[in-house]
Amino acid sequence: MIFDILTLFPEMFRSPLEHSIVGRAVHAGLIEVNLINIRDYAVGKHLITDDYPYGGGRGMIMKAEPIICAVRAITQRDPAGHVVLLTPQGAPLEQERANQLAERSRLILVCGGYEGIDERIRDVVDEELSIGDYVLTGGELAALVVVDVVARLIPDVLGNDGASADDTFSHGLLEFPQYTRPREFEGKKVPHVLLSGDHRAIDRWRRYEALRRTLERRPDLLPKAPLSEEDVQILGELEKSSRGE
Ligand SMILES: C[S@@+](CC[C@H](N)C(=O)[O-])C[C@H]1O[C@@H](n2cnc3c(N)ncnc32)[C@H](O)[C@@H]1O
Repeated sequence: MIFDILTLFPEMFRSPLEHSIVGRAVHAGLIEVNLINIRDYAVGKHLITDDYPYGGGRGMIMKAEPIICAVRAITQRDPAGHVVLLTPQGAPLEQERANQLAERSRLILVCGGYEGIDERIRDVVDEELSIGDYVLTGGELAALVVVDVVARLIPDVLGNDGASADDTFSHGLLEFPQYTRPREFEGKKVPHVLLSGDHRAIDRWRRYEALRRTLERRPDLLPKAPLSEEDVQILGELEKSSRGE
């Protein structure tokens, strides 16, 4: 997977892309991240990338032309490049959308800044994504979120195949609680079943806990989650007990 990040602040990416799992994936050649400075595509003596808004108003607007030139320089070489504009006005980035993005061979991530980008940028954009209902100062952190979320879905990036398979959202539920050593900490013990070596019992416990946790914290996820008859029965019992029945 190739990520091209179009930004006015390439330096913001260096450290996050050099460390942890994403850093290892870059070093192992499992993903490639190209940082493209939008200013390199600006024209004129002063290489201007932003200007005042037509009609007046606060702040500056990023010009469309340098970004469009930067995007075209990539898509002319590789028409498979899928152009994603990071914007609070985009579709919410959810796990399912991340799974779809991970199927692509190349993502071109466009980071806005100031008060946003000239509307005509949308001519070259395939998809608009938001990382949440809040406004960041720039698209750089949002682009890093996309790289991180998508990179961990690429085969071999997490080291052991299927490591993301039980993650929260991957089956429409929150993940079950996890424990590691010691067996007891400040009087709190690891649930006995996890020490039993009985893998069927462990799987049952984990499913039950994932359902319980999702019902408690994110009941909005349940209508879309693929549930078995047994899951539905468990949820019914959990609901009854929460009503004190
Ligand atoms: C200050 S914001 C501009 C917001 C714009 N004036 C608006 O109201 O829609 C500057 C840039 O940050 C990025 N950004 C801000 N919030 C974001 C979010 N929730 N998700 C993705 N990108 C975001 C976008 O690239 C945006 O162009």
